[in-house]
Amino acid sequence: MHLLCRVDELPDEGAREFTVNGQSIVVVHRDGETYAYLNWCPHLGIELNFQPDVFLDSDNQFIQCANHGALFEIDSGHCLSGPCSGDKLVTVTHSIRDSEVWIDELPQPA
Ligand code: FES
Repeated sequence: MHLLCRVDELPDEGAREFTVNGQSIVVVHRDGETYAYLNWCPHLGIELNFQPDVFLDSDNQFIQCANHGALFEIDSGHCLSGPCSGDKLVTVTHSIRDSEVWIDELPQPA
């Protein structure tokens, strides 16, 4: 288990990037829920973002890859459009304990 942060350190309706054991992950906070994925686009196996903590589209409805614009559902990681449509982000299992975000062992990129 690895402590990431307190829930109140996550932006409301936004995303934040963390590095754990050299692996970048993205955590999205929306409607009181948290979603965590490897920062790893299934299209080319590279990071999703160009700018720190900027992962969402302009309407904050989807995770958007800055490289070629693929859109991913925030709550499932499924890619709905773009060059990796039908593929999905790699989920990072986590839990909330005493208002802290803890992650389990990191998965490997596919
Ligand atoms: S690398 Fe993400 S859409 Fe191409």
